[in-house]
Amino acid sequence: METGKHSRMAEGSAYLRAVHMVLDGQPKILEDPLAATLLGPGFTDRLEGDRERLATAPLVKARSLICMRSRFAEDELKAAIGRGVGQYVLLGAGLDTSPYRPGHPAQGVHTFEVDHPDTQRWKLERLRAADVSFSERLHHVAVDFEKDSLGERLVACGFDRKRPAFFSWLGVSYYLNRESVLEVFRFVAGLPPSSQIVFDFVMDDAELNETERQAMRSITAFVQRFGEPWLCRFGPADLQQTLRGLGFSHTGHFSHALATRRYFEGRDDGLYLDFTTQMMSAIV
Ligand SMILES: C[S@@+](CC[C@H](N)C(=O)[O-])C[C@H]1O[C@@H](n2cnc3c(N)ncnc32)[C@H](O)[C@@H]1O
Repeated sequence: METGKHSRMAEGSAYLRAVHMVLDGQPKILEDPLAATLLGPGFTDRLEGDRERLATAPLVKARSLICMRSRFAEDELKAAIGRGVGQYVLLGAGLDTSPYRPGHPAQGVHTFEVDHPDTQRWKLERLRAADVSFSERLHHVAVDFEKDSLGERLVACGFDRKRPAFFSWLGVSYYLNRESVLEVFRFVAGLPPSSQIVFDFVMDDAELNETERQAMRSITAFVQRFGEPWLCRFGPADLQQTLRGLGFSHTGHFSHALATRRYFEGRDDGLYLDFTTQMMSAIV
């Protein structure tokens, strides 16, 4: 991220969720009517000028992933609330709208939106501009994962370390250095049983064949051009071992094949996932 500026990747992710609501078929992978609202009045014109580009493979895949990862995390959140988890933490929230959508299960729990101060400031401006209100149970926590203590900042904003919490960490782990990623896992692993983290990770080269490695090289070059390079990648088996070693009792790799079967089978709008970025869930 450029110093003093909001994350362009956060804006791009919200844009693709908003595009999904307009361009893609039913049922939606993710119902996010507020995404366009937060992007502001320029969204419709931007989309009109962008239709051709949005139909190209890289943007179809990116849109599929971005909608799927939020849907998966929100489905897991619902299950966690069902087993009594009462705190929801969005790490690197970007323009995630789950806490603001009427009727969303997030509204029944204490929610903490954690983000880099530059992105969070921008989101709060967007919320004000769009006249979106929120409950007193929603807290905005400014944190730089590479400098600040997540635990201290959360507790200062009312987070209760003695109660289980659900963490959604989407589109962030690969932008950080490995030690900062492990620090977040350690924090969640130290919370009461039933706490959970759901996140996406970029596959390590060691897991890929030569064709996939080549595809990965062009994707990494693309994200580098936005000034937000991928720094941290994992293999699913090693990652699960690491998480278990840190104290998680249950880990689940929600691969792109499983995600395809659950959310994409039978669609006729061309949305599809590739191997690049996959989901992991870990429960304390
Ligand atoms: C690709 S966006 C994803 C946003 C959102 N989770 C989503 O799915 O739309 C990455 C997010 O990570 C945040 N981020 C990146 N580096 C960070 C850091 N060092 N500390 C805190 N947040 C960071 C950015 O501000 C941004 O909101």
